[in-house]
Amino acid sequence: MNDSTRAINNPTAAAADEAYAGQPLTQAGFDAALAEISGWPGYALTPLLSPDALAAGLGLGAIHVKDEGQRFGLKSFKALGGAYAVAELLRRYLASKGGKTPVSSRELLSGAFARALRAVTVTCATDGNHGRSVAWGAQLFGCRCVIFVPAHVSQVRRDAIARYGAEVREVDGNYDDVVRHAATTAKAEGWTVVSDTSYPGYRDIPLDVMHGYGVVAAEIEAQLAAPPTHVFVQAGVGALAAAVCAHFWMHWGRKRPRLVVVEPLRADCIYRSLAAGRPTVVGGALETVMAGLSCGEVSELAWEVLRNGANAVIAIDDAYALQAMRMLARPTGGDPPIVAGETGAAGLAALLAARNDASIRELLGFGRDSRVLLLSSEGDTDPEIYRQIIEQA
Ligand SMILES: Cc1ncc(COP(=O)(O)O)c(C=O)c1O
Repeated sequence: MNDSTRAINNPTAAAADEAYAGQPLTQAGFDAALAEISGWPGYALTPLLSPDALAAGLGLGAIHVKDEGQRFGLKSFKALGGAYAVAELLRRYLASKGGKTPVSSRELLSGAFARALRAVTVTCATDGNHGRSVAWGAQLFGCRCVIFVPAHVSQVRRDAIARYGAEVREVDGNYDDVVRHAATTAKAEGWTVVSDTSYPGYRDIPLDVMHGYGVVAAEIEAQLAAPPTHVFVQAGVGALAAAVCAHFWMHWGRKRPRLVVVEPLRADCIYRSLAAGRPTVVGGALETVMAGLSCGEVSELAWEVLRNGANAVIAIDDAYALQAMRMLARPTGGDPPIVAGETGAAGLAALLAARNDASIRELLGFGRDSRVLLLSSEGDTDPEIYRQIIEQA
């Protein structure tokens, strides 16, 4: 195991009693997303599991795992964001074409607007899960879709996107290069980019994406009798972490959990940004098995929430993610098995890294009473890779 685990407290974290204010995500935005998404076909609450033997083994009071592995059959929480943003932009498109009353996503599902929507093409860059969500949303609500992927995205993950009728195109470079390529192509072709990351001048659509992710937090608040003491959220561009942070902050106020952002050692853009006090880019290949976290630039909107909302950040080695996947797949002591992909297992991976380092446990404020919430943000999004990892000793 490479024990170069790093963790820091956020020097600009808000005090516990500071109210959520001024940030871009709103309660009204979260409520609107929940109202729409909970009406889509196949909507179901995802499970919140409590592996007590695992918690005891790690010296913690409780561990709760929100299992997003079956979300809408797409196998990750990402199903909530991209598809919701597609529905929202199609609603806005119809309004711009003289539609009289705002159309709900349920009315879009009826197919009544199929003719008008045929003119719309949505696109995005993805390393898998976000593109799957956008493609699914385009098919569900009836528009065309082109998805750009970096070379490292597996064929199984590409096929899973194409299954929803999208055209999949490979682009050279890392994730951030592919984001830029999608933006340039969309501009030239008159397509609409549905990105999960925001940058100067591009905020409305990623804000919809993040409000969609808020469904995860809303469900947890309903499923847990009391707030946990800590929540570990894995971050790529930080949109999920920011959505969960804002939702819990508004809902639980001063009782909200400490929010710990988890990143891979080589794609630690939020770590570096919090340390520097401003968005800081990580270049290079950003190589990690946690493909969903292979991002070198924090989203502008996410930064606006996390710069005060995150309490700590931990950067971990890939080996912990693989170990965490196996532990979740083959639990001991009667705990329920959980299918977590490489990125999904990042929260437990960070707990394993913390177990090996007393100074990190102290920094995180861990004790025997800590109740830690983890997000298993994806299931076996590539079943073949998942099987190979689980079968290794
Ligand atoms: C399964 C999974 N978990 C977590 C993340 C991180 O989300 P974000 O990029 O919003 O930080 C991703 C991003 O693709 C993902 O696919």
